[in-house]
Amino acid sequence: MAAPVQDAAAVRDRAPVRDAASASSAGPWSLRHLHLELLVSFAAAGAGRLRGQARLELRCERHGAGAELRLDAHPSLAVSRAALLPPPGGPGDAAGQALPVESRPFASYGSALHIALPQAPRAGQLLTLLIDYEAGEGPGVCWLSPEQTAGKQKPYMYTQGQAVLNRSFFPCFDTPSVKFTYSATVKVPEGFTAVMSATSWEKQKDNTFVFKMSQPIPSYLIALVVGDIVSADVGRGEGFRRAPELWELSRVWAEPCQIEAAKKEYDGVIEEFLVVGEKLFGPYVWGRYDILFMPPSFPFGGMENPCLTFVTPCLLAGDRSLVDVIIHEISHSWFGNLVTNATWGEFWLNEGFTMYAQRRISTEVYGLPYTCLEAATGRVLLRQHMDATGEDHPLNKLRVVIEPGVNPDDTYNETPYEKGYCFVSYLAHLVGNQSKFDAFLQAYVNRFKFQSITADDTLGFFLEYFPELKEKGVDSIPGFEFDRWLNTPGWPPYLPDLSPGQQLMRPADELAELWAADGLNMEAIEAVDITGWRTYQLVYFLDQILQKSPLPEGNVKRLSKMYPKISKAQNAELRLRWCQIVLKNNLEAEYSKVKDFLHSQGKQKYTLPVYRAMWGGSEATRALAMETFSATAPQLHVNVQNYVKKILGLGEAEA
Ligand code: BES
Ligand code: ZN
Repeated sequence: MAAPVQDAAAVRDRAPVRDAASASSAGPWSLRHLHLELLVSFAAAGAGRLRGQARLELRCERHGAGAELRLDAHPSLAVSRAALLPPPGGPGDAAGQALPVESRPFASYGSALHIALPQAPRAGQLLTLLIDYEAGEGPGVCWLSPEQTAGKQKPYMYTQGQAVLNRSFFPCFDTPSVKFTYSATVKVPEGFTAVMSATSWEKQKDNTFVFKMSQPIPSYLIALVVGDIVSADVGRGEGFRRAPELWELSRVWAEPCQIEAAKKEYDGVIEEFLVVGEKLFGPYVWGRYDILFMPPSFPFGGMENPCLTFVTPCLLAGDRSLVDVIIHEISHSWFGNLVTNATWGEFWLNEGFTMYAQRRISTEVYGLPYTCLEAATGRVLLRQHMDATGEDHPLNKLRVVIEPGVNPDDTYNETPYEKGYCFVSYLAHLVGNQSKFDAFLQAYVNRFKFQSITADDTLGFFLEYFPELKEKGVDSIPGFEFDRWLNTPGWPPYLPDLSPGQQLMRPADELAELWAADGLNMEAIEAVDITGWRTYQLVYFLDQILQKSPLPEGNVKRLSKMYPKISKAQNAELRLRWCQIVLKNNLEAEYSKVKDFLHSQGKQKYTLPVYRAMWGGSEATRALAMETFSATAPQLHVNVQNYVKKILGLGEAEA
């Protein structure tokens, strides 16, 4: 296991940035370590409890902290006792001195836990707080009934922290501006296994699992799963061996009925991505890299929990075609997990740099044409998003102003990803040389690793690293000012050149033209053989069809018949587009596919566009939306449920 490589002094010297989404008084404190002692129990279908204790090891960094400490928490988190432990080795009750504690309202997504300290701490003073609590009904802790799992035999629980949900899992400074190491002891019922986003995992007697994360991370990256899950090694790709003492073999985790498929999907490919990532961005500091296949209702394609990425089972496409999600989550090992956005308003620092890193790795492994094709599908998503919201929407800035009371999760959209990618590509374009820019990225990670930063830090470092560009005033070129990129909504002023992908995109563009014509030229259509097309070529083709829809009467029906590879696809990216096309063209005969798709999975980025399309369609599609939602709502993540309710005008329930 690699030793921690953090620059502790640098982390400590940085005063946390003010985060409007945190009720906590993190500012003067550093959290040196969090320990969770948890007992997990499943109750009736879809419910359960976590009972236990959080131990926070705090250091007061600055004078003037006051005699009150505030932590982020949630109304669903029941705190029974807070106590101050005596200093190690000193006299005092081992159970600690009980402290007055009170939960007060903060926002729709959390509350503030006020803890009264015996006196205001001195700078440099160490405090250990114990908090006994119970959790379970909050949005960060999801309890699934057996029917909601792949195997349908046993219940399942998982946590999802990003962005502000972990305050319903444990009390803490729930802000990405604060990093700390953690450990946990988790006792689970017989027949279940617990895994966490931790460097080490150990099963002890009595079904108790012990975890330790030895690198400092923000609260949102702590994650726990308890279920009937097993693991399998996914070996090393030939030719990509690293020194074994630095790196353990990757594993996949899944329910027993999916473990074969999981192993098959990614056997021998993970290490290559890690090796290329290290070559480009510097050491992979997290020790292991494992992947956990979640139940179908998991709301994201992937979640970069350190050491253990969580992914949707939709990735089990059988042909590795959705591996870009894995490359994306691996890229967060440097951008996001090592260099972290200090607030959710700077989320593009996590996602924009990660999209760039993902496409750098993809270029090295799969080549430029394929990567440009994938990036073109990303650009379509940005176009669709900006068309839907209007380019001038305030969320279409890279730096989002998140006002007090606004749930950061409600600001989630494509802009930080794809406009962020364009901005990072623009920085690379200014440098004008890929290997110089790669070297900059590596220096950037090295400079800010284990820290939480803002775009000012990033751009300041960029100009410092390239003094000749600073001299030239590249930050204020009219139309491309850094300030405009950050603070003005709108379509990216610079788009990277995706023309190397043309060889893959052109045939798809041309075929889409043919299908959009009045009076189909079947001879020309039949002359195009799509049997050898990659999934992303088909995705790109379908995006073009969707954009041209509704097509002339009868065309989509014929298209469906002609390409069962598309209309009967099991691949989720293809199914999403097909559903959108079916709805836009009122192809009633295939509405059942829309329903089936929504029943089969609960990923937010699939679910919401399909409901939007249904709600924006006919009376029949609206009825379909209502019927499907009432049948599937209990399976959806509570956030996704609320977003669908909003689309369907059902009024947003409080999260
Ligand atoms: N960190 C995100 C997922 C996320 C974002 C969860 C915000 C909660 C709040 C993850 O890395 C991500 O971006 N996933 C994408 C993958 C895609 C861009 C390849 C997804 O889920 O679709
Ligand atoms: Zn991401």
